[in-house]
Amino acid sequence: MLQLKNLNASYGFLQILWEVSLHVEDGEFVGLIGPNGAGKTTTLRTIAGLLKPTGGEILFNGQVINNVPAHETTRMGISYISEDLNLFVDMSVKENLLMGAYIVRDREKQLETLDFVYELFPRLKERERQLAGTMSGGERKMLAIARGMMSNPQLLLVDEPSLGLAPHLVTDVFNSLKRLNQTGVTMMLVEQRVNATLEITDRAYVIEQGRVAMEGPSSELMTDEHVKKVYLGI
Ligand SMILES: Nc1ncnc2c1ncn2[C@@H]1O[C@H](COP(=O)(O)OP(=O)(O)O)[C@@H](O)[C@H]1O
Ligand SMILES: [Mg+2]
Repeated sequence: MLQLKNLNASYGFLQILWEVSLHVEDGEFVGLIGPNGAGKTTTLRTIAGLLKPTGGEILFNGQVINNVPAHETTRMGISYISEDLNLFVDMSVKENLLMGAYIVRDREKQLETLDFVYELFPRLKERERQLAGTMSGGERKMLAIARGMMSNPQLLLVDEPSLGLAPHLVTDVFNSLKRLNQTGVTMMLVEQRVNATLEITDRAYVIEQGRVAMEGPSSELMTDEHVKKVYLGI
């Protein structure tokens, strides 16, 4: 579904990504881990069309999307849930969700997706009239993920959903992501919680200083000496 070939990306003259190559297959759940500042967010932003690559190729379903802007990648089926969530705090939960469906013209289809999302996140259904700005941190993450689902994406890119969450909420959010993947949504998850990420993903890439340092099945990375020492503190 997604393939990056020797991707380079920069902010101004500062090159951040160096020849990043990775792929995500249909239905897969792929993790992207690595230290702060390694280039994980930059990778997702480049895929989503928020940042233009300076070299290499991004292929989505076989089509080169290097120069496709963000609103178009959404239309093509890529949904990016950023660290800062970008919720409309003065709008209700339901209004936020429907805003996420703006590319879906068919009202019936919108409401069908809303039902699906409410089934996955019953808490959002209970709170559908509450203002997003008054939801708890965990609920907001759920809302952002749910809103990302409202465009019926093929590929969901989720950036550090655990950031700032209490441990028990992290478990909730990760469980929701796993369930979402089990409904057939292909996912790429960027995280600093390495252990939890390797537990729920099929495969993962380790990004260090803008380069792919390691890759493999998550179960294998979990027992790798470098990963254990640097990321798991074992
Ligand atoms: N808008 C920006 N302008 C300049 N440098 C940036 C910008 N955003 C991120 N960077 C730099 O790019 C590097 C990678 O950042 P990022 O992709 O956010 O890392 P990660 O998500 O892995 O923590 C960091 O050194 C960061 O300071
Ligand atoms: Mg980041």
